[in-house]
Amino acid sequence: MRKEYLPFSPPCISEEEIAEVVDTLRSDWITTGPKVKRFEEEFAAAVDAPAALALSSCTAALHLALVSLGIGPGDAVLTTPMTFCSGVNVIEQVGACPILVDVEPGTLNIDPAKVKEAINNSSAQLNCSYRPKAILPVHLYGHPCEMDSLLEIAQEHGLAVVEDAAHALPANYKGRTIGSHVAPSPIPVMTCFSFYATKNLTTAEGGMLTGSPEAVEEARAWSLHGMNRDAWKRYGAGNSWYYEVTRPGFKYNMTDLQAAIGLHQLVKLHGFRARRAEIARRYSAAFSRFEQFQIPVVRDEVEHAWHLYVLRLNLDRLNISRNQFIEKLGARMIASSVHFIPIHVHPYYRDKYGYLPQDFPVAHREYQRIVSLPLHPRMSDQDVDDVIETVIDIAHKHDVRPTRLRVVPGMRIDPPDAGFPDVNMEKRIDLPAFSATPRIIPSIFRRAFDVTCAALGLALLSPLFVAIATAIRFDDGGPVFFSQPRVGKDLRKFRLLKFRSMVPNSGGMSPLTVPDDSRITRVGRFLRKYKLDELPQLVNVVRGEMQLVGVRPELERYVEIFPNEYEVLLQDRPGITDLATLAFRHEEQMFQAGPLEKQYVSQILPRKLKLSLKYFQARTFFSDLGILFRTVLGLKSPAAH
Ligand SMILES: Cc1ncc(COP(=O)(O)O)c(C=O)c1O
Repeated sequence: MRKEYLPFSPPCISEEEIAEVVDTLRSDWITTGPKVKRFEEEFAAAVDAPAALALSSCTAALHLALVSLGIGPGDAVLTTPMTFCSGVNVIEQVGACPILVDVEPGTLNIDPAKVKEAINNSSAQLNCSYRPKAILPVHLYGHPCEMDSLLEIAQEHGLAVVEDAAHALPANYKGRTIGSHVAPSPIPVMTCFSFYATKNLTTAEGGMLTGSPEAVEEARAWSLHGMNRDAWKRYGAGNSWYYEVTRPGFKYNMTDLQAAIGLHQLVKLHGFRARRAEIARRYSAAFSRFEQFQIPVVRDEVEHAWHLYVLRLNLDRLNISRNQFIEKLGARMIASSVHFIPIHVHPYYRDKYGYLPQDFPVAHREYQRIVSLPLHPRMSDQDVDDVIETVIDIAHKHDVRPTRLRVVPGMRIDPPDAGFPDVNMEKRIDLPAFSATPRIIPSIFRRAFDVTCAALGLALLSPLFVAIATAIRFDDGGPVFFSQPRVGKDLRKFRLLKFRSMVPNSGGMSPLTVPDDSRITRVGRFLRKYKLDELPQLVNVVRGEMQLVGVRPELERYVEIFPNEYEVLLQDRPGITDLATLAFRHEEQMFQAGPLEKQYVSQILPRKLKLSLKYFQARTFFSDLGILFRTVLGLKSPAAH
């Protein structure tokens, strides 16, 4: 069991943020000033928004969006019950009526079909006699809502759209960053972000409103007492003290102290998101194999911000409740939570509108079984392993039947990296349906065999190692070894070792080469011909990162494109050789003119994975021995291509 408590979502603040705050404190300006202005500009650029207004919270942004859109008494706003209370609270505060609409069972986002139904229903059935003026969708947990359908409904009925993007930074829907959208007039779209302490980007407390320049300027006027000139504009050298109050505004401005933190968080945002996505991927890969869990849905057309990882418990497979599950996680030093208690069960809304729990059946049912697991960039791989092991162990101990593993064919975990636009996703492989239960207990015998062979190999081949090392040093004086991060068992990263066969400092470039690639050294050419450059991976085998025969470990970006396939194959350690390695022994000769990465991902890798998956199902110790011999003897696979 863990000795230290694993917190749910601590902030990721480092020295840059601290130094910038200190710099602000030492300056003469600590409230809204130049740093807020810079933060607004840089944030708008980061989410591709036409304009941005920094505020004291997301709640303030939601409130100002409604106020500046002129929504008030007599109006209704359609929103979701599966959310934090702030969106519905501000609807109440402006004197409008919230119309709750049940959620989709998959994403738990507001269901566009039910929005349509609610609008078409009579006002009597909606529990209030107000006129719909806006839709307030929440991109729950960081998964964007079905925006095309919602915008279509808004357009049809002349409604504004106020997106609650508290969780969706950065997120993407059909190639558009959340926050970038400006619908054609007359449908105003405004987007609200949160920088609360637990959020993907924090300023301790804070928020941002994005939208068209006109809408943002209207909200800006409301944000600071309704004054037409802020203090920075009034107190600067040569500026006039004069201002006018043009409306009864609020005090929702962000300070330079907060913006100082935000400016540095913004720079790290994509790194934070990548780590969150990696953790989510590992969680999903592990939990999808058990019938006691339902992993989060990720639609093909979105890029998830992974603010929260919400696992759903299949309660019919467990003899404990969700609350007991959470207690057991806490007892084993792991924080967890529930997002959210649906709006309609909170006393204020329940009593005011007379809601019953089952009025929103999907939200009510899913609320009983959701658990948010720790997810933040400060989590180490060990922390992630601890969560996985503990969650599985609790489920195992409280299963109504013995634990069974399951592989769901065709399940997507995360969309391909946005940096890979041209990949033909039609090449996605149909996974064979696994009837057999994948092994979870590693074969001790197999491991002993691998380690003994690898250690023996290292000892016997040491004169060859010395000769190769000398040749490499003699050739260009550069380093003997080359190592690169690859994805290993259970999607954990490790460094793959090789003899260096390319010119120094080519590690950051594509590892794919063509036969006459100028990056390959003279010695490298010889090593590659006989695959001798791969020999140092015997060390990876001894270290437990690899086995002798298994799917070749790939770069993370390739694994991200084929998550289903690797999820299956990397239940085992990756290997030095396998059937696909033999079949594609000289893959560099298969490339044609044009970008290598694209050819590799769309043509070669899918074929390799198909072969590996077939082999993975049927492999035995003796078939692996055959592959090992063929590799050592330099023979091609009998099943090539
Ligand atoms: C979905 C959602 N909307 C709005 C908010 C409010 O954000 P803030 O605390 O910045 O007002 C939160 C806060 O957690 C939230 O989860």
